[in-house]
Amino acid sequence: MPTTTLNHHERLRALTDLLTPSIIRAAATLRLADHIAAGVNRTDALAEVTGTIPELLDMLLRRLAGLELLSRAEDGSYAVAPLGEPLLDTDPSGIRGLLSMDGLFGRQELALVNVLHTVRTGQPSHAAVFGAGYWEDINHNPEFVDALELNAHNPIGWDASIIVEGYDWSQVRSVTDVGGHSGALLIELLRSHPHLTGRLLDLKNVAEVGGRAIAAAGLADRAEAVVGSFFEPLPTGTDVYLLSAILADWDDEQAITILRHCGEAAGPGGKVLLAEVNLPVAETGSLETAGFELYLRATMPAPVRSVEQLERLGEAAGLRVSWRGPVTPVRSLLEFTLA
Ligand SMILES: C[S@@+](CC[C@H](N)C(=O)[O-])C[C@H]1O[C@@H](n2cnc3c(N)ncnc32)[C@H](O)[C@@H]1O
Repeated sequence: MPTTTLNHHERLRALTDLLTPSIIRAAATLRLADHIAAGVNRTDALAEVTGTIPELLDMLLRRLAGLELLSRAEDGSYAVAPLGEPLLDTDPSGIRGLLSMDGLFGRQELALVNVLHTVRTGQPSHAAVFGAGYWEDINHNPEFVDALELNAHNPIGWDASIIVEGYDWSQVRSVTDVGGHSGALLIELLRSHPHLTGRLLDLKNVAEVGGRAIAAAGLADRAEAVVGSFFEPLPTGTDVYLLSAILADWDDEQAITILRHCGEAAGPGGKVLLAEVNLPVAETGSLETAGFELYLRATMPAPVRSVEQLERLGEAAGLRVSWRGPVTPVRSLLEFTLA
């Protein structure tokens, strides 16, 4: 075989290797670097603290040494090598948490193995790999409660300050944060507008985490967290139904259902406040962004929707725009009422 063909063959094998990323993610999940740095540096002891089988962990450790993430001394003890240092929990990059298979991102990225499903159907790959969509999976799997708790400490982002500051909350008494996640946004809203009361609605695990965050913020007398799904009719009783960073995860038909349920719960005179995000893909169509574009589409059906597209979704859900708010590069604010 000519050398060039051999090189291409080897290169293709290297490009398509699934085992190496899995081994490194397993190491991150087991916190091997942290254990080793803490002095638990021999296979048997590591197997005991990580709850793994010594014979199999030995293979994993030797492979990590072969990949130069660990170094192995002649007496069989391991040390963290420079390439493995970012896997320490103390590393400011936070990469261990991102790679951990118990973590929210790590779980999501595992589903990229079936990006073909997205290319064939336009749908995210998660359900094809795990049997349930990402949020269903995270919310009904007790393994992810800790990861969600960690998330609850994240500050609000993606220009969510325009929701708190760019809307006239003085006329509103109560708000349901639909898909309110960890409660960070609702807490910020209630702190900034002391006359407001709130309700966080989310799937099971998230609603429980959100409820604890509300209580820890000392706001249990002004807000509650309830378990519910925006694919079912929503509880009535608040003036505003807020949807922040929700629709990107759903295709048009699903997004219309969510908006319709919010409108029905708000009822005549009530408001649906759509605070949708727009994920920035610098220049779609270029070779450089193609990987990122596919990543986004494999994890969410609609990472980029224009304000006009959002307005059309609202109209299809029986709503009409009653106020057009600020638009930033990553967020827009639209108020709807029943048409
Ligand atoms: C991208 S997060 C948005 C969180 C938050 N609103 C924000 O602005 O950061 C999507 C949220 O929708 C929730 N969610 C997903 N499916 C849901 C459903 N069927 N009913 C209610 N909430 C759902 C998820 O649990 C998650 O908290």
